[in-house]
Amino acid sequence: MTPINIEDLRQLAKKRLPKMVFDNIDGAAHDELTMRANRVDFERIRFRQRVLVDVSKLEIETELFGEKFAMPLVLTPLGMQGVIAREGELQAARAAERCGIRLCLSTVSTCSVEQVQAAVPAARPIWFQLYMSQDKGFMKALLERAQAVGCRVLVFTVDGASRGQRERDLHNGFTVPPRVTPSFVLDVLTHPRWAADVLLGPRLSMRNIDPSGRQSVMKAGKVMGGLVNPANDWRDLDWVRGIWKGPIVVKGVLDPEDARLALAHGAEGISVSNHGGRKLDGAPSAISALPAIVDAVGDRATVLMDGGVRRGHDIVKALALGAKACLIGRAFAYGLGASGQTGVEQAIRILEGELREAMMLLGCTSVKKLDRSWLLPS
Ligand SMILES: Cc1cc2nc3c(=O)[nH]c(=O)nc-3n(C[C@H](O)[C@H](O)[C@H](O)COP(=O)(O)O)c2cc1C
Repeated sequence: MTPINIEDLRQLAKKRLPKMVFDNIDGAAHDELTMRANRVDFERIRFRQRVLVDVSKLEIETELFGEKFAMPLVLTPLGMQGVIAREGELQAARAAERCGIRLCLSTVSTCSVEQVQAAVPAARPIWFQLYMSQDKGFMKALLERAQAVGCRVLVFTVDGASRGQRERDLHNGFTVPPRVTPSFVLDVLTHPRWAADVLLGPRLSMRNIDPSGRQSVMKAGKVMGGLVNPANDWRDLDWVRGIWKGPIVVKGVLDPEDARLALAHGAEGISVSNHGGRKLDGAPSAISALPAIVDAVGDRATVLMDGGVRRGHDIVKALALGAKACLIGRAFAYGLGASGQTGVEQAIRILEGELREAMMLLGCTSVKKLDRSWLLPS
């Protein structure tokens, strides 16, 4: 089947991946209320369609922090992409590069920031995402490594004071360490293509945390536990600001007051996000939280958003509500699971095609012109 939309890629990934890996991508915290709200609230928004506008020339290129993007889209940080496909982050970064956009690499990636940056041109650096542990020496060294390979934009994720209970993972035994039951083994054995790709590849580790790759993913996983630091507060952003030379985006903001605080502590960007519904179940959808945050920061910051983007139309809606670009998570993870780099490229191209079509039918010639006047009152 040639995938024509993100749901097709999701179905392909569901077939190819063991249930526990698919559920880890597809699932969210507890009752998954917030994850569902991310979609439902996008679906409720209606366009104000204009006609007989010359849309033969369409402008979708976007500049983010002085860097050029072919469209207003970034691949959001997703940890452990090597569990989805062999050296998943390398494949995703190459796909992003081929489509003229960029990957934001997670702290808890399987490939290191050095490996991933080496896979794309030095002139088009990847973004780097930070989880902040209590070990300041380790964090400083990691930030310096990211800057040494040329990363400019740092995305500091702040919505992880606790891990967030993903009940599908607990049921499947997809935990650190895993709960190896007969059904766990059967799940792996009945997905031989995935097993050959991922389990026979380079040893799975977390190479930002363990650059040598000698530690097993389990051992590094324990370090990852330490990255969930309930003691984090705004002083940590001050500390990061003192080390990081380029723009900082604070990711995981849902409240206008927190957006103002982020700017007061030195951030240049806000990413409105509820972590794809994987943290606080019952938090508002990202798209519903976006307008108040845009109003709070005005033109003092670049506002991005993620959560529930599955159609190019969603990107148009988010831009109309004031986001400068969207980040996508599961949409590209399904592609990676379906067919590696090719699948990630397909995901980006599908969204690009839909974005173009939505802009044309809306009667809007440039993403720069999108504002609330292109939406009907809700
Ligand atoms: C499998 C998975 C792993 C994730 N890992 C990280 C991570 O390492 N760092 C981070 O800041 N956010 C992480 N997130 C959250 C995403 O960056 C993003 O906020 C979310 O996926 C957006 O929602 P969407 O998947 O509906 O696009 C992860 C999300 C998923 C689904």
